Amino acid sequence: MDTATTSTGAAQPPLRRWLGPLGTARWWDWVPICQLGEQHGPLIEAHLLALGDRDRYLRFGYPATDERIRQHAAQLDFGRHELFGIFNRRLQLVGTAHLAYADLSRSMCEFAVSVLPHTRGRGYGKRLFAHAVRHCQNRRVDQLFIHALSENTAMLRIARGAGARLQHEGGESEAWLQLPPDSVGSHMTELVDTRAAALNHLFKRQQELLRWSLGLVVDVKARLAHLRGIASQ
Ligand SMILES: CC(C)(COP(=O)(O)OP(=O)(O)OC[C@H]1O[C@@H](n2cnc3c(N)ncnc32)[C@H](O)[C@@H]1OP(=O)(O)O)[C@@H](O)C(=O)NCCC(=O)NCCS
Repeated sequence: MDTATTSTGAAQPPLRRWLGPLGTARWWDWVPICQLGEQHGPLIEAHLLALGDRDRYLRFGYPATDERIRQHAAQLDFGRHELFGIFNRRLQLVGTAHLAYADLSRSMCEFAVSVLPHTRGRGYGKRLFAHAVRHCQNRRVDQLFIHALSENTAMLRIARGAGARLQHEGGESEAWLQLPPDSVGSHMTELVDTRAAALNHLFKRQQELLRWSLGLVVDVKARLAHLRGIASQ
């Protein structure tokens, strides 16, 4: 059986073992993940439009056109779906995760994710998945599933690593992950993570505002110098 043993001698299931190192990551490994809302609609759209043809195929299961992506972004229902994102310094969304409740009792959730090509391989996909797992666990969701193409090695590696059960049919695969019950620890981790991510976002916005203000000062100085030049002619 795929279990490890804790220091107390108790068997540790694969998901807890997988979440463990991410949950106790050193602060410099920490990646802020923010909850996205309606105000982020244009950024979500820009993120999805930045995906190439193959990534769109892997993400949506069909070759989504720009038009289809715009419709998808416009129709996002933030009451029924939950979205999370990773922002870079310039406040561009470089990674998004999408959770869609599959039934009315909210016991099952479908997970989808995308990370922009230039930021891949840094563990963002894995962290977005871990964040979604924790979020679902704390809302008493029983199962998380992912629909992916069988050729999608990266996605299936993330799912397998968390202990998901994989089912392959033709060129498609489904990964099913049974979630553990919530605990004080899982709620605390989510609370601290969410607050810290919100603070980090605020900091990035202030930096962006400062950069914009400095740019404005430089522009005004250049314009004044130009006008002075004209006046002295
Ligand atoms: C799937 C995706 C989100 C992964 O993002 P990422 O940030 O690069 O993933 P991570 O860095 O967390 O890597 C996750 C695992 O996949 C592996 N991996 C990453 N890219 C890989 C590749 N091109 N081929 C094989 N394995 C790969 C990593 O080594 C890691 O495995 P490990 O934990 O065993 O070391 C990203 O490739 C993507 O956006 N693809 C297009 C959209 C998509 O396929 N979405 C999933 C379907 S909903």
